[in-house]
Amino acid sequence: MKAAIYTRYGPPEVLQIVELPRPEPGPGEVQIRVSYTTASAGDARVRGFNLPRPIFWVPGRLMLGVFQPRYRLLGVELSGVVEKIGEGVDKFAVGDEVFAHPGLKKGRGGYAEFIVMGQDETVAKKPTNLTLEESVCLPFGGLTAIYFLKKLGKITQGQRVLVVGASGSVGSAAVQVAKHFGAHVTGVCSTANVELVRSLGADEVIDYKTESYTESGGPYDLVFDAVGATRFARCKRVMAERGVYLAAVMGAAEIFQMLWTPIFGKRRVKSGVSEDTREDLLLVKELAESGEFVPVKDSVFGFEQIVDAHRRVDEWRKRGSVVVRVGDAG
Ligand SMILES: NC(=O)c1ccc[n+]([C@@H]2O[C@H](COP(=O)([O-])OP(=O)(O)OC[C@H]3O[C@@H](n4cnc5c(N)ncnc54)[C@H](OP(=O)(O)O)[C@@H]3O)[C@@H](O)[C@H]2O)c1
Repeated sequence: MKAAIYTRYGPPEVLQIVELPRPEPGPGEVQIRVSYTTASAGDARVRGFNLPRPIFWVPGRLMLGVFQPRYRLLGVELSGVVEKIGEGVDKFAVGDEVFAHPGLKKGRGGYAEFIVMGQDETVAKKPTNLTLEESVCLPFGGLTAIYFLKKLGKITQGQRVLVVGASGSVGSAAVQVAKHFGAHVTGVCSTANVELVRSLGADEVIDYKTESYTESGGPYDLVFDAVGATRFARCKRVMAERGVYLAAVMGAAEIFQMLWTPIFGKRRVKSGVSEDTREDLLLVKELAESGEFVPVKDSVFGFEQIVDAHRRVDEWRKRGSVVVRVGDAG
């Protein structure tokens, strides 16, 4: 099968298309013919070993491979069609259209024509109202937004939520997920993305090019920095007395603050690595089907143009998802 691999860390050009053996499903597993994947911020960071903060350099290398990547396949999210099922599979049938978040584990990913996943992993039938091309835009942003807002932030109805970086993959999902939970949402983005963020349901939009979101506004119960653009210390002034600062991008400062804010002061800092579960993917599907979570597509590239897709992500200016067409279906 055709696959895009990287054998050393570096710029988008390290990605190369090669032939790999097709994985076969074992008991409880499904083989998916991949139609679409994305060039996500997660894939781009791992490819370039571009970790958000220097503190993670050593643990990052130990996890991903010290001298070269331990796993050569990327593609944290995908959509496609079930091609084969293993013994005992009862959640899926051949021909089902699915979307999935295999993540960066186990040396497999969406950058290949076929992938095998366990039926209980983060894979589900795609939203019925969306195409495969649209569905692939949801898992990475949606699961991250649910993890931070619901699991860490314990978001509740009527809360005031500030989403910084509201036009990215995670931020655009966060605006919509927060609205689903009944929050009053303020999105922060640049001038070019104000209309997009408003169209996603944000009650208020702050253009960070012309207005400061850390000097006035709020008070916010939750501040979700979805792109690592600000700091807890800067946002304190606009946070509610018992507000929570959620950092999608964690560094030494956030680790320290996570330890001391529960002991001293009333405002908290929380961060972590998003957990992807099938249950949350089913919530993503439900929100998409009810029209509460719409995909935001930045651009679509062919598989042969995967290097260009990664170049677009490396600009850190994409709006929603950069889609990569892998197969012919959909
Ligand atoms: N902790 C976790 O588990 C976890 C999980 C997933 C992702 N992440 C991290 O979350 C981050 C965001 O991921 P993503 O996929 O959403 O990235 P992305 O889509 O590539 O983000 C691009 C967006 O960021 C916005 N942006 C750039 N600088 C900004 C600034 N100073 N203020 C406000 N917005 C700004 C850009 O909008 P403008 O052009 O309008 O500025 C653009 O729309 C990444 O660093 C990723 O590694 C963490």
